[in-house]
Amino acid sequence: MRGVPALIDSALRNAWSFKELPWHLEVDPDRGSFPEESFFAGGLRPFRAMSSAQRRAFVFRETCFHLSNLLAGERSGEHLVAQVLVLTARERPGHREFLALMAQEEAKHFLALQKYLSEKASVLYPPCRRLFLALEAVEACASPEVKLLVGQVVFEWTAASLVSTLLVKAREPLLSAVLRVNLRDESRHLAYSYELREPLAKVLTGRVAPEMEDLVFESVRASVSALLAEPVWSELGLEARAMRRHALERLERLGVLDRYRKLVPEQLARCGFPVAKLTRRLGKGLVRGLVADG
Ligand SMILES: [Fe+2]
Ligand SMILES: [Fe+2]
Repeated sequence: MRGVPALIDSALRNAWSFKELPWHLEVDPDRGSFPEESFFAGGLRPFRAMSSAQRRAFVFRETCFHLSNLLAGERSGEHLVAQVLVLTARERPGHREFLALMAQEEAKHFLALQKYLSEKASVLYPPCRRLFLALEAVEACASPEVKLLVGQVVFEWTAASLVSTLLVKAREPLLSAVLRVNLRDESRHLAYSYELREPLAKVLTGRVAPEMEDLVFESVRASVSALLAEPVWSELGLEARAMRRHALERLERLGVLDRYRKLVPEQLARCGFPVAKLTRRLGKGLVRGLVADG
């Protein structure tokens, strides 16, 4: 079995239930399950001045901030997949079942993260404003191709790398269990985006409306903006603007921003999306304005 039928088979065989997660475990950031090193605040004086317990609590809250954005993405993912299922039901009948399974999986990711953040960690942040607006715009746009491109290529890809980073860093047992089942599903969703290359390329055929390109551009920028854990930094009394600049410089130095500038257009190009202009725009404008207003 290959292609979409193989993915359906794998989704059914690997289905997990919300109840099987170890919800009896308590989340205690003091127990050493969170690292003491903060990716962004690491070398800064107010961070170094903290005790190791305070540092762990800070990293715990940073993690919860990223998970809160992921939560918003999961809910929107469920919504987008449901929309695509309806919009493409006639032209791609072979994809319906997989889309239905995928919507259900995103819903479970949302529910598990929501329970983790609100009941177990008791730390839940509002999503990053830019990310929220980008998700809303993609949900409102009429084209199923754009929903798939932005949802599956831009947001899924960035979410998957975020989840794997958090999974490596956090040794908190309940969070690891939640993220592990999440990542297993997401790797199948990424495999599905390969199946979409051909059908999408047929529809996009090298030309897209300028509004579509704007939407993709703003979504990539929103993914970067969502990495800036501002509400947590402000709890530490760090000045927002200076901290945003510091964080973006760090992301630049470590080559993270370059991945957004190059790898995302590369993935989009494989689906037939014309990326010459987008690549130029991302080259110059990926982080423009993000220091000033987040
Ligand atoms: Fe998900
Ligand atoms: Fe997904």
